[in-house]
Amino acid sequence: MRQVYLNGRYLPADEACVPVTDRGLLFGDSVYEVIPAYAGAPFRAAEHLDRLQRSLDAIRLPNPMSREAWLEMIGTLCDTCGAVDHSIYIQVTRGAYPGRAHRPPETLRPTVIAFTQPIPERDPRIPEQGIRAITLADIRWHRCDIKSTNLLANVLAQAQALESGADDAIFIRDGIAREGTASNLFIVLDGLLITPPNSDELLPGITRELVLELAREAGIAHAEASIREADLRRAGEIWLTSSTREIAPVVMLDGAPVGDGRPGPRWREMDRLYQAAKQRIRLAARNGDTR
Ligand SMILES: Cc1ncc(COP(=O)(O)O)c(C=O)c1O
Repeated sequence: MRQVYLNGRYLPADEACVPVTDRGLLFGDSVYEVIPAYAGAPFRAAEHLDRLQRSLDAIRLPNPMSREAWLEMIGTLCDTCGAVDHSIYIQVTRGAYPGRAHRPPETLRPTVIAFTQPIPERDPRIPEQGIRAITLADIRWHRCDIKSTNLLANVLAQAQALESGADDAIFIRDGIAREGTASNLFIVLDGLLITPPNSDELLPGITRELVLELAREAGIAHAEASIREADLRRAGEIWLTSSTREIAPVVMLDGAPVGDGRPGPRWREMDRLYQAAKQRIRLAARNGDTR
């Protein structure tokens, strides 16, 4: 991270500072987005900005920037990334004032932070070996649809997964599998691709939407339906999706193999479609055609 956008200014990372009383820091009173950019072209920026607006509305924080200003800022940050794939992190907090009352003064100005980070290349072992996951009780609050920076439960779940020798955890609430610690959940059950419907219990992922779109276009049978824990355990394939992780095939769940213990044929097909969609963005960026 070389450059940080902070409240209208572009600063070297070590000069970008927020007050210690910023409500994002004291209360987690803030929301965020992570937008992938391929070859300098943001991918699905409009969808991410729409979701940011929904998160802001949900926490009753007026959007401090116009759509044009967001896109201009994203474009400026992308210009510093060259041909390397990056993610653009955006955070909006309710702002800072010299106090710590739960109820903020009405005059507070939101803090806007943004910066880029390279997206690591996919581990070349994943298409052959997949990843491992454990299941954990979902101890998060009941507004998981808001992309809030209150991520302690997610952080602890991810740590528990790593400590147990797995790569990630899948949250289970009321006997229903919801999503990963930073990803949405798909399973292939009896030939049908299934993902839980959007609700307060999970984040409406942009990658989830893209996978559904690709499934529709390719004529892959799919459904948005609740996934019972028992169905998760008998699924032939399990995938976790996110903007930076793309589509990760889970081959072990709580130590038991998923399907034959290798990334499945449906995953290979969807991964191919997803990589092709990414490639189209790269080519468009090279031709100067970024939306
Ligand atoms: C809890 C959670 N669910 C799902 C996702 C996937 O969302 P997207 O595909 O928009 O990256 C994320 C991404 O960070 C997440 O944190």
